[in-house]
Amino acid sequence: MEIAGGIDLLREEGARLLVLTGAGVSAESGLRTFRDSNGLWEEHRVEDVASPEGFDRDPQLVWRFYSMRRNQAKTVEPNPGHRALAEVEKRLGDRFMLVTQNVDGLHQRAGSERVIEIHGSLFRTKCSGCDLEPFDDHAAYLEGTLPTCDNCEKRGGNSLLRPDIVWFGEMLDPAHLQAIDAFMRRAAGKPFVFIAAGTSGAVWPAAGLVNQARSLGASTILVNAEPAENTARFHRFVQGKSASALPALFDLNASNNR
Ligand code: OAD
Repeated sequence: MEIAGGIDLLREEGARLLVLTGAGVSAESGLRTFRDSNGLWEEHRVEDVASPEGFDRDPQLVWRFYSMRRNQAKTVEPNPGHRALAEVEKRLGDRFMLVTQNVDGLHQRAGSERVIEIHGSLFRTKCSGCDLEPFDDHAAYLEGTLPTCDNCEKRGGNSLLRPDIVWFGEMLDPAHLQAIDAFMRRAAGKPFVFIAAGTSGAVWPAAGLVNQARSLGASTILVNAEPAENTARFHRFVQGKSASALPALFDLNASNNR
């Protein structure tokens, strides 16, 4: 599965790196993934806690789920995998983009700046009824009164606020997709590396980014504890835990990267 150039491509003039991360990258910080054994989806039904219909049926259950995850994410720390990506971004500047499916904010806490949170954030809340701008919110709504939207109340409505998470059946933010697309197009024809780390490749459209990157000439690398559903789409599979595998991958080029 070896490719010509591989990560050495990053040494070349104008090289670009697009990284996609998933829950596995935060596993060694102490956050549970979704589909591993003991993953979140073993204990919770996706349709109950991660769909608009589930929220309509039982908003208290949904808020309890995300409030617990908010509380957990606040108590853990970024790990060396997060930090390696922040370090590589410092070298590449705007030739780097990080697309994360994670909603835990750990990449930003590790120092990453060019981050696109395609599945939203645990630490933002929005309205379930109006187009109120999502706002920062670290509160936990574990029991009792659920938060309501002031904006709707002013107009005589009573919509509930909800986590700013992209649930199943919902569209990704088109601005995010456009930004990713624009980055890939700028990378086409240049030395271009795409890395996916800590993701099972089970959820689209994230799982399809490797195809788009490949079609634009990227060298593609998967860093994962176990094979993913789309492993065959990658030129190279580095099997390992991201907290050690990501720093190792980049340290190979440490002396040459700009
Ligand atoms: P998954 O739980 O589906 O996959 C996590 C992957 O990380 C698995 O393939 C593991 O083998 C791997 N893994 C576990 N520990 C690891 C480690 N220390 N280092 C490297 N890899 C490790 O999580 P995602 O792919 O992120 O969506 O799931 C995608 C989306 O599905 C999530 O964003 C979430 C979920 O439903 C929403 O909630 C909208």
